[in-house]
Amino acid sequence: MFSILVLHGPNLNLLGKREPGVYGSVPLEAINSLLENEAKAVGAIVSIFQSNHEGALVDAIHAAADRHQGLVINAGAYTHTSVAIRDAIAAVNLPTVEVHLSNIYRREEFRHHSYIAPVAIGQISGFGSDSYILGLQALVRHLKKSAR
Ligand code: DQA
Repeated sequence: MFSILVLHGPNLNLLGKREPGVYGSVPLEAINSLLENEAKAVGAIVSIFQSNHEGALVDAIHAAADRHQGLVINAGAYTHTSVAIRDAIAAVNLPTVEVHLSNIYRREEFRHHSYIAPVAIGQISGFGSDSYILGLQALVRHLKKSAR
């Protein structure tokens, strides 16, 4: 049974109400329920944490090192700004999948660069709430392969 930490960054607590044309109408709680169900289906358990604060996300990544086997992260706007979150992921060396609801490459140029991508095993971007499910599936498949 793999234990996975799912991290949601800033403004994602507003999902459902926030720019629904870009991010869809599914609230964060509903995404979290989908993740919990999918985790059961693929033989994993998820812990889920959302914060609007960079340091709190860094702390959560540090704490994950001894508790979880992998990380799914939507760092929100910190994706494009945070060397600290990138360094935290590199420091704990947990297999990490970066996810985005929107396709960041179809949007403003400042969203095209991710500080997290170089320390992630991969990125899923543009499938709305399904990005999280696909990200979790990809991570668990990766962990199962690595465990063989
Ligand atoms: C996002 C994309 C980011 O550019 C943005 O700042 C977000 C959400 C996404 O899930 O599409 O907050 O990470």
